[in-house]
Amino acid sequence: MRGRGGRLTVAGAVVAALLAALAGCSSADASQDQPQLKIGGAFIPQPVGDMASGFFTVTNSGDAADKLTSVTSDISDDITIHETKDQKMREVKSFDIPAEGELTLDRGGNHLMFMGLKKKLEEGQRVAVELHFEKTGPTKVDLPVKAATYNPTRH
Ligand code: CU
Repeated sequence: MRGRGGRLTVAGAVVAALLAALAGCSSADASQDQPQLKIGGAFIPQPVGDMASGFFTVTNSGDAADKLTSVTSDISDDITIHETKDQKMREVKSFDIPAEGELTLDRGGNHLMFMGLKKKLEEGQRVAVELHFEKTGPTKVDLPVKAATYNPTRH
């Protein structure tokens, strides 16, 4: 009886050590609770006047949500983010980027709005912008200028 009890105690200690190891492991994972953003499909349709719109997709593979809060570029001092509701666009403070989800900017929907362009944009050029997020650091993206009718989502 006594020997068996001793063995059980040893087994209990091993289990306790394993649990501690597991706990240590999962607390290390907690540091990954942050957004992991990737920008894709960016473009600007060649504008007619001094106003342009910009589109792209932000994919978040991280465990935490983020927000696109503002956009800056040398090409315009007045860049805002707009959503479209009932075919009318309006400025918003930020776009949500859900955890393990994506934010889509596309024709007829969410978009960047560049006002007072400082130079004419022609198809084939690239426009460097910096995206600002609530959590993720500033991210530079090149938006290629495409044909005025370019629409990757149209079939
Ligand atoms: Cu707009």
